[in-house]
Amino acid sequence: MKKILIVGAGGQIGSELTTYLRSIYGAANVIATDVRECKMLSETGPFEVLNALDATSMASAVARHKCDAIFNLVALLSAVGEKDPQKAWAINMGALMNSLEVARQYNCALFTPSSIGAFGPTSPKDGTPQDTVMQPTTIYGVCKVSGELLGNYYHTKYGVDTRSVRFPGIISNVTLPGGGTTDYAVEIYYEAIKSGKFTCPVPADVYMDMIYMPDALRACVELMEADPAKLVHRNSFNLASMSFTPEIIYAEIKKRLPDFVMDYNVDPVKKAIAESWPNSLDDSCAREEWGWKPQWDLSSMTDDMLKVIREKYGK
Ligand code: SER
Repeated sequence: MKKILIVGAGGQIGSELTTYLRSIYGAANVIATDVRECKMLSETGPFEVLNALDATSMASAVARHKCDAIFNLVALLSAVGEKDPQKAWAINMGALMNSLEVARQYNCALFTPSSIGAFGPTSPKDGTPQDTVMQPTTIYGVCKVSGELLGNYYHTKYGVDTRSVRFPGIISNVTLPGGGTTDYAVEIYYEAIKSGKFTCPVPADVYMDMIYMPDALRACVELMEADPAKLVHRNSFNLASMSFTPEIIYAEIKKRLPDFVMDYNVDPVKKAIAESWPNSLDDSCAREEWGWKPQWDLSSMTDDMLKVIREKYGK
């Protein structure tokens, strides 16, 4: 990768991936775009307002900047997708189809995240294998499975260098996620610092895979820079780092903030989604094919999250 276009750069992943890629490839070589102005990104390198559903504008940006790689980070997440499935399909698949087509026409590599949400209630729950039954029950998951298939199709049919990971819930402290089922695991840290109490929308005992943002960013680059001859899979690799329930993350925070309290007001949509997803993925293919290895665990992440959020709010 020498010159990179990011679409959907203003979101949870993009706002940090842009900075990370700029630190590696040079600020001038990472063109961040989003449907809205984003001051944080435009102050540190090239930024354009771009609607990913407008294929002509996306093609023009790639051509003008002579990009050789695209990161497509446009997506409505799982819980919000259920409120308007048609819109979720139009945005998630529209941005992906445009990215695939532009990548094909301009010979770009393409990274698009998939998710633990690509699995469903009929997938094995523990140690969910790389290649297994995938029958998600959310529109978000249906888009992710379709996206994985399309990514592989564009690779075999047209030779487009498509690569992807199935991200766990991503925990981060720069831009909040919005409308996801795993968002609680971000919000809990903010509330622990800001108000000392948190009402959890997900049942106490539901396990989901999670990952800390620095590991997620490193995974994107390591996969995109991996030797293609070693990749048996492409779209998408299971990625694992840590798996916990609301009770477990609560206990971890309480060790450091003994007065922190959590109660529950379970959201039925999030409950159904969370219970339909795996407890923990088997990421051995990512480890074997491109050397994936997480560096953060629940304890080190909790220390870091609380430190950063404390500084943010001067607490
Ligand atoms: N974090 C996403 C969600 O909860 C899953 O990929 O929707």
